[in-house]
Amino acid sequence: MNAESCTYVVFGATGNLSRIKLMPAFYHLDVAGKLPDGTKILAIGRREWTQEKWISEVKDMIQTKIKEAFDELIFKRFAERLHYHFGDLQQSECYSSLASTLEQPTFSKNIAFYLSISPMDFGFVMEHISDNQLFDETSDWRRVVIEKPFGYDFDSAQSLQRRISHYLTEEQIYRIDHYLGKGTVQNVLVFRFANVMLEPLWNRNYIDHIQITHSESIGIDGRGDYYNSSGAMRDMLQSHLLQLLTLVTMEPPVSMEAEALRDEKVKVLKSIRPIPKEAVHGHAYRAQYAAGVVNGEKVNGYLQEAHIPPNSITETYASMKLYIDNWRWRGVPMYLRTGKRMKKGQSIISICFRHPPLQFFRDSALNSAVDRNWIMLGIQPEECIRVEITVKEPGLEMKTRTSSLDASFRNSDEKAIDAYEDLLLDVLKGDRSLFLRFDEVEYAWKIVDPILQTWAIERDYVATYPAGSWGPEDSRLFDKECQKWRTSLTPDGKTEAK
Ligand code: BG6
Repeated sequence: MNAESCTYVVFGATGNLSRIKLMPAFYHLDVAGKLPDGTKILAIGRREWTQEKWISEVKDMIQTKIKEAFDELIFKRFAERLHYHFGDLQQSECYSSLASTLEQPTFSKNIAFYLSISPMDFGFVMEHISDNQLFDETSDWRRVVIEKPFGYDFDSAQSLQRRISHYLTEEQIYRIDHYLGKGTVQNVLVFRFANVMLEPLWNRNYIDHIQITHSESIGIDGRGDYYNSSGAMRDMLQSHLLQLLTLVTMEPPVSMEAEALRDEKVKVLKSIRPIPKEAVHGHAYRAQYAAGVVNGEKVNGYLQEAHIPPNSITETYASMKLYIDNWRWRGVPMYLRTGKRMKKGQSIISICFRHPPLQFFRDSALNSAVDRNWIMLGIQPEECIRVEITVKEPGLEMKTRTSSLDASFRNSDEKAIDAYEDLLLDVLKGDRSLFLRFDEVEYAWKIVDPILQTWAIERDYVATYPAGSWGPEDSRLFDKECQKWRTSLTPDGKTEAK
């Protein structure tokens, strides 16, 4: 698919996401020569800024974010793509004046609207864009990128969907989950489906359990209002981590075409065994960070953060156990967890294989010492794929150690690409395979809703963990004593003390 020139209209352009992700991603795409000629980025903002002021703001965003040296000349070329439209989203004049601005010949008539705004405003903003005929695709395409959260639970996601489907067809909607744009996440598909030796092992006969851990050392980062009404389960698990789980466990799609891929992901979500409310405590755990030390610095607890009510029960850590009731995975526990203010920021998928039968070593001291095989997928910061196997230590004794076959996919001279770069480009190409279809969102809410509903009622006690630790003691989730959270990509540092 070819990227076509377009006007990206960014709502919420002065906000956090735009600063740290969108503008740097547009800039990198331009530097890489990937933005088609004529592509413009039109920011909508409530502040009465001039074009020059907006350009200097974007320059600042890019200089703060990029790792490579900043080149004035390249930025000057990029700045020609930048435009600013002053207007208040809550006022209908904002949309009529936007419609006249977009009439100017400088703007391509293919338009992608990027809604980086509060979900509460989605309906209103779309209604007004639609009233000004800006979604009309009679001669050119119109697409809408919607940032998460898509709803607050199953019911609110459905009502949001009903509202936006008044204005848009499903083909026009790009529900973004930026985890699907990450390099290793896409590599999971290649790793699984382009390597024939893995497929026979990728099932309940050989795999003991799967873990997905996303930990962050940062806290809520000035987003108190949003985070307190969301919490870790909604913010990360319902979206990003369930998406990772679908990619690791789905059946091979018939093609890499968007619908084929999404069909397989939905099948996984549909096969997840529902958690009855009375079983929530055996399947999920929540906690809040207390004051502690992160990277040598003393930090506040969650309840002391700005905009957090002193009696908040919002979880900053959430873990859960799921079962996928299909032929491939029946009986294999899937453990997922995420937390803020943990010891280290990283996302890893750990696949633990069963013990070998061991008869061969029956009479040797090895019997209990042989470790299991793991496949480790490092999503970030380290992007890697490692297969751990047991080998004999050199020497006279029959001793073993774990060795790691490293299939890291980036050479040192190959640059990492931010997930948003890939996804912003896919919108220009009209490729929706890495965006969510509504039924994926629906089924994901169905999985977590019973947990959220139970937690919402139980308001008396929320466990805490010291900031800078590996989280609370939630080993009750594990099916077997030998199962525990893996915290390291390397075999020697498998688990670190909490
Ligand atoms: C966002 C969440 O969707 O993902 C944040 O709202 C979280 O709370 C972020 O920090 C993590 O994304 P990444 O790409 O930094 O791992």
